[in-house]
Amino acid sequence: SAPVLTIDGPSGSGKGTISALVAQRLGWHLLDSGALYRAVGYAAGVEGLDLSDVEAVTRCAQTTRIQFRAQKGAETRVIVNGHDATDELRTETAGAAASAIASVPSVRQALVSLQLGFRKAPGLVADGRDMGTVIFPDAAFKVFLTASAAERAKRRYKQLKEKGLGVTLSGLQREIEARDSRDASRAVAPLKPAADAVLVDTTGMGIDEVVAKVLAVVQP
Ligand code: CDP
Repeated sequence: SAPVLTIDGPSGSGKGTISALVAQRLGWHLLDSGALYRAVGYAAGVEGLDLSDVEAVTRCAQTTRIQFRAQKGAETRVIVNGHDATDELRTETAGAAASAIASVPSVRQALVSLQLGFRKAPGLVADGRDMGTVIFPDAAFKVFLTASAAERAKRRYKQLKEKGLGVTLSGLQREIEARDSRDASRAVAPLKPAADAVLVDTTGMGIDEVVAKVLAVVQP
């Protein structure tokens, strides 16, 4: 089947940006798995579900329709149950909701076949937390991106400010740390590098430099 490059890591490690650029350079498909969890968390919020109600959020994960609409030269739009939710999905509120429902095994299970379906010729770049460990354990290429917590908070702060979203750096750093520790300590698919992943610490590195490092994993 088609080759897969998995790019996992914590929030603010640059996964999203790097994955999109690398997919573009390789001419491969892109799976933003975080967007799926964000979309389910968002849909659960729209329905007014209690995020700790396992049965309700599982049903939500099974029934939510998620579409990616690629745009030339602009960011891919994410359509949730027919509504363009791209802007709502970016917020740290959506990130926290995603992290909450992502700790439910049956929610993760509901999203497996959807994710596997992204693997198509000529190849796939899969961005997430468990791409190399759970979803594509047989991937030929695996990268794990990290960066210091302070740098990750700074990057995310800049990103959200550019979008005009009101946030403070210290508040964001606290939220990111809380989400990371939940993601790393959960029983199912905890955030950790696959044994065969190439670790890249991006602290102090520019985007081009990281893209080159990741491309070198695929094309040495
Ligand atoms: O962009 P950022 O890394 O902050 O977030 P994201 O990749 O959009 O993921 C949001 C949340 O979804 C994470 O905090 C994880 O809890 C969850 N997630 C997951 O459990 N597994 C994935 N493959 C991707 C995301």
